[in-house]
Amino acid sequence: MEHLVSSWCNGRSLPESYILPPEKRPGKLTVPLANNIPVIDLRGHDQTDLIQQILEACQEFGFFQVINHGVPSNLMDEAMSVFKEFHALSAKDKAIETSKDPSKSCHIYTSSPNYATEKFHFWRDGLVHHCNPLEKYIQFWPEKPPRYREVVGPYTAEVSKLGFRILEFISQGLGISLGGLGGNQALVVNHYPPCPDPSLTLGLGKHMDPVFINILLQSDVYGLQVFKDEEWIGVEPIPNAFVVNVGYPLQIISNGKLKGAEHRVVTNSNVARTTASYFINPSNETLIEPAKSLVDASYPALYKSLLYKDFLIKYIAASTDSKALEEALRATV
Ligand code: OGA
Ligand code: NI
Repeated sequence: MEHLVSSWCNGRSLPESYILPPEKRPGKLTVPLANNIPVIDLRGHDQTDLIQQILEACQEFGFFQVINHGVPSNLMDEAMSVFKEFHALSAKDKAIETSKDPSKSCHIYTSSPNYATEKFHFWRDGLVHHCNPLEKYIQFWPEKPPRYREVVGPYTAEVSKLGFRILEFISQGLGISLGGLGGNQALVVNHYPPCPDPSLTLGLGKHMDPVFINILLQSDVYGLQVFKDEEWIGVEPIPNAFVVNVGYPLQIISNGKLKGAEHRVVTNSNVARTTASYFINPSNETLIEPAKSLVDASYPALYKSLLYKDFLIKYIAASTDSKALEEALRATV
């Protein structure tokens, strides 16, 4: 396996393979923090109002934060602690703890899943594992740190519940029912070590997530930026909040009504940043296409229909070229 950033980065200068071409570099590292990314309180609203707020956020930003979401804050804190402890293990332990399933439902990688073919690398390590059904997959999760399964099991169950609640609000807001909800749910625990030169590299390049939605625990360290109106805006860390974002398949299903916002991660030279993405994916055999009720003469279908597994093939083939991907997915007029 390629070497995890965290296993060699200490005291080193930035290797050439991490230096991005000038047009892909972060530019200004301090961008405005998004005082305009909606923060939605899931408690104490009537349902119609809540659906309205969520839908507006998905239309305008493709991003929002949720507070009072029902996931206990001590569970969030404990999960973040074990995620950090995991990434602090030795490289050997991390390799052992992530190779229990021969079919790799749990694995670790560095930079991106395209490490072997990508032109440059990103400054992050990622632990990935499937989460549902829990009884099937938990046996393959790390057993170090010792409390990993005991804490992350209930954590993923709670976050999954929250994710489906939000998806239900979105589908009610759009007036459609989402098919393919039985797809896999995966946790990606990202780790971005302190970086010797944050101006030349990124933790994650500009991308849209290939999922229905992502429920992100972003910790108290800033790093996430969203691309809106041709500008980058920062997503402010808010204690006990989750960041929610719409992925590409929902942009397609909503016929462009919802935005699968592009985002990226900048690094910093002082502290490590650990985050956890909870991805809710369509099932492989789901047809990803504009919902019939959202297509008519004034709103023709913007996208072709294709099975989710074929969407993924195109997504992976396009790698970091988001324009090429959008072209490949667009309906021909
Ligand atoms: C991702 C992602 C953001 C972050 O995992 O796809 O965008 O802040 N993560 O780690
Ligand atoms: Ni993402």
